[in-house]
Amino acid sequence: MKSGETFRTDAPIDHAGKGENFAPTDLLATAVGTCFLTVMGITAKEKGWKLDEITVAIDKKMTTHGPRKIRSLSLQIDMPTNLGADQLKVLQKATKDCPVLRSLNDSIKIKVKWNQLKQKKKTSLNFVATNVFRETPDVTFFDAGVNGSNGSDVVIHHGAAISPPNDNEFEQYYVHHHQIDHNLVLEGSRTFTLLNPAWDEPHHVIYLNPKMGALQIPIGTYHQSVSGTEGSMVLNQAVRDRDFDPNKEFIPVSLRDRADLRKAKAADPVFWVWDDGRIRRLKVRRASKANIF
Ligand SMILES: [Fe+2]
Repeated sequence: MKSGETFRTDAPIDHAGKGENFAPTDLLATAVGTCFLTVMGITAKEKGWKLDEITVAIDKKMTTHGPRKIRSLSLQIDMPTNLGADQLKVLQKATKDCPVLRSLNDSIKIKVKWNQLKQKKKTSLNFVATNVFRETPDVTFFDAGVNGSNGSDVVIHHGAAISPPNDNEFEQYYVHHHQIDHNLVLEGSRTFTLLNPAWDEPHHVIYLNPKMGALQIPIGTYHQSVSGTEGSMVLNQAVRDRDFDPNKEFIPVSLRDRADLRKAKAADPVFWVWDDGRIRRLKVRRASKANIF
């Protein structure tokens, strides 16, 4: 190696290792992904094209029967927005000539999914205020209605609970295609995690309490909610369109299967909290700098 760089490897946990470093088969998967990126980079340079960021996420699956080896590699390649269709085709074709690929035999299935990133949309999160008619230490009486709502459901967490439940070590999320949620906490508090890969800020954590009003969850936004040990009660006043089908709207999506959602979850979260009588948005960057705005 000309660079002289070194790094450690380890066997994975399920194969007599500690999983503390890359497994050798991880390196093979990485070799395929980086080879694709390198070949595209070289091609773009030859053509005089400027390439914005390209990322590749790789899922590696090992065989479960017979000799242990890599069964398949699934590559998801996110291409930049500034490329035309013809340029995209040239770069995609170039990857077919990647030297790592040429060195592997056909027993590893390699699937490639190309995504051309759309321009990120600005985050769109709203809280619909409730109109409190009367509030005394013993009684709270308010208008819980949301304009246009044509469906409502109540989800009660009796103690610590999570909706939807995890898929073993992977979180699961709901997403709607024909329903806008308006989640109002009636009792207790509920922490919502929202993921939306199409937003400029794809990861949000909302500590929702009754005073914050109904959290509006736009179509295409993946959401999950958790209660503490005291539980909570949430009223959702949904706005459903004509194509709403209950059999399709409440299917949990596991992070196990979605590299794009895992990437959104890995982004620095925006926290939404109730503080000093109003909703605040709090952004914490990994460098541990906090900005309130
Ligand atoms: Fe929902």
